[in-house]
Amino acid sequence: MAAENTFAFRGTYYHTPTYGRLDVLRDVVLVVQEGKIVRIANGHEETEVQEEFGLAEVRQLKAGQYFMPGFIDTHVHAPQYQFTGTGTDVPLMEWLRKYTFPAECSFQDLEAARHRYSLLVKRFLANGTTTAMYYGSLHLQPNLVLVDSIERLGQRAVVGKVNMDRLSADDYIEDTADGLRDAEEFVTYTLGKKCSRIQPCITPRFIPTCTPELMKGLAEIAQKYGCHIQSHISECCGEVNCVREMHPEYASDAAVFEEMGLLTNRTVMAHGTLLSDDDIRHLARRGTAVSHCPLSNFFLGDAFFKVNHALSLGLKVGLGTDVAGGISPSMLSAQRMAVVNSRCIRAHKLAVSGGTTVTPEMEKDVITFKEALWLATVGGAQALDLADVVGTFEVGKDFDALLVDTNLSGTSGPFDVFEGEDDDQRFEKFINLGDDRNLIEVYVQGVCVKRGDEFLLDGSNVSVKATEDDSDRIMSAPTPVEPEAAYLDLAHRADSSDEAASVDVGAAAEQSEPPTKRSRF
Ligand code: GUN
Ligand code: FE
Repeated sequence: MAAENTFAFRGTYYHTPTYGRLDVLRDVVLVVQEGKIVRIANGHEETEVQEEFGLAEVRQLKAGQYFMPGFIDTHVHAPQYQFTGTGTDVPLMEWLRKYTFPAECSFQDLEAARHRYSLLVKRFLANGTTTAMYYGSLHLQPNLVLVDSIERLGQRAVVGKVNMDRLSADDYIEDTADGLRDAEEFVTYTLGKKCSRIQPCITPRFIPTCTPELMKGLAEIAQKYGCHIQSHISECCGEVNCVREMHPEYASDAAVFEEMGLLTNRTVMAHGTLLSDDDIRHLARRGTAVSHCPLSNFFLGDAFFKVNHALSLGLKVGLGTDVAGGISPSMLSAQRMAVVNSRCIRAHKLAVSGGTTVTPEMEKDVITFKEALWLATVGGAQALDLADVVGTFEVGKDFDALLVDTNLSGTSGPFDVFEGEDDDQRFEKFINLGDDRNLIEVYVQGVCVKRGDEFLLDGSNVSVKATEDDSDRIMSAPTPVEPEAAYLDLAHRADSSDEAASVDVGAAAEQSEPPTKRSRF
């Protein structure tokens, strides 16, 4: 007799257990039981496997269809989804003030939050993001709505309530004690769901908006509950220089986070483009990961994150969209941007050399689609301390998978396939040219959460296309706040009795030198 919830697919599976290598399991039968992969057998063993598990059928994939692991987005701001694709005109500190804080603050309207978070989770699932590490917003209640939406729609996630008790907008800031209380309440609410797919996360927004008291208190909560931690580190010149002014006794963001107790083996720090090698080595020693967000770094960052270099120093690295700093919710886009980013480093080195000779040294930062896919799956799983659970097809892991169909020709799909192209070429085309139309089924923990246009766990089966109601909600989203010298305003907002010193905007923008003072590691 077949156990409940057992099924099998026979076909071709792609994954990247080893960095830089694309492995293909050709014509295998993969059996899933209670959400876990329990058997991977050769295709010719189908009958035996069917008998062993009492399966009424083994579903055969069509030619041109492949399974691959679901994508793991290690850095998304859930309440920023509504303005993704807009607001790319200003640097980070001004961007926060102009677009981000008003948008996030508006989630206090819980009905709006429910609509928008439902659209968000559907959009990410549709794009193949089976696991996301989400930032929520400051206020407790909308974050509970976010957790409920993720639970309802079947996504896997690590989710945090944002904390900030200084240097934010007047109407979007919390008292230290309130912030700590709400962070703990968020953790206990999320753990109370006893949903193995969803884990709470401690989320000090970034150093400029958090007092040492808040950061230390948050570290204690993380330790008490064994939680993940997420924040932003060494993202751009404006942020780094602001931190240097506020905390002159520390040489780097990493040194501040270390002192606050926020670097653990369950910490994910976004960006890290201005980390020194010493910083990277220190994060690696702590088991802390960096979420590489290439598209966002092109808009809000000032430097390149060097994936191969960071990995060579032992750092765990995942990939992130950083919606809405990154203007696309798609992890396919993030992978392509990671490749482009790496090729920009090469071009930059050549330009600096002034010559026309490409040296091996210039080549070593270049990554291919295979490395990018590893970052989007295995790298993300390692970053989120989920390497034993997801990221590849192995017996004992959960079945978080995407069914890719490369047969959509003409205008029904994003690319064409030509005679003579083999499976490997079709799969590579999907990674480089494909989109959500190619993802015909999405599985999380062995459950099909999306098939075609339908979200199967959503009672209403609402399509990812916005309904009229959704559109109304989108139109009622807050308009950007036009700041006057916003960055200065932001940077000076801290209590004058506070240790925050003034920040020279011009100098922050011009200085591109990473900090040279050594840390207290
Ligand atoms: N630093 C602090 N907050 C944010 C944010 O929302 N997005 C990005 N990219 N960087 C940040
Ligand atoms: Fe971010």
